[in-house]
Amino acid sequence: MSKVLVLFAHPALEKSRIHTRLIEQTDDHPDITFRDLYEEYPDFDIDVKREQELLLQHDIVLFQHPFYWYSSPAIIKEWQDLVLEHKWAYGSNGTALAGKKWMNVISCGGSRQSYSIPGLNRFTIKQLLAPVEQTATLCNMQFLPPFVIHGTHLLDAHDIRVAGTQYKEILNALVEDRFTDTQLAKAFYINDLVNVPRQF
Ligand SMILES: Cc1cc2nc3c(=O)[nH]c(=O)nc-3n(C[C@H](O)[C@H](O)[C@H](O)COP(=O)(O)O)c2cc1C
Repeated sequence: MSKVLVLFAHPALEKSRIHTRLIEQTDDHPDITFRDLYEEYPDFDIDVKREQELLLQHDIVLFQHPFYWYSSPAIIKEWQDLVLEHKWAYGSNGTALAGKKWMNVISCGGSRQSYSIPGLNRFTIKQLLAPVEQTATLCNMQFLPPFVIHGTHLLDAHDIRVAGTQYKEILNALVEDRFTDTQLAKAFYINDLVNVPRQF
């Protein structure tokens, strides 16, 4: 069994359609800790020691956020700049996070097809996540394939329910260590590993 820490960032959650549904899936689960970073730190005054303690208490860290300018909302960058300290997360004796897992949970306006080399966005999500993947690698963490919800503007109520079900399945599988390393290494998106009949 694994403990999952969800670090959530959405600067306008009251207007959100998809994340409102996704975060419901983390409710009332003894092995999942949910943190809304904008709610915790409205002035970006991040409590580094507290965040590091939480990381130590968990095995898998999920960064859940809308895709903003091919990246994350600003507080996630601030969190990474402050919390992933030298000699703690990386560098000499910086092994606090070694062996833990890192995964991104991303919603984006662009379609799956648009995130391809011939597509409008010219790069895949995996390529755009290269700095994040390398950050995880430098911290000796295993970088998991992301959970991605595409085309958010076109999703209807049914699609949003399905995305919620898919996220729940993935959260349960992560807690129960049901994905094998081979499956994780092969999957483009972690969405592809659960049996919910809909691709976003
Ligand atoms: C400031 C800003 C930047 C955005 N940048 C991107 C982007 O780079 N790529 C993309 O596909 N969608 C982009 N979007 C669309 C959001 O990702 C999309 O609206 C969000 O995932 C929807 O989730 P929500 O309903 O929970 O807010 C952007 C939206 C905003 C407001």
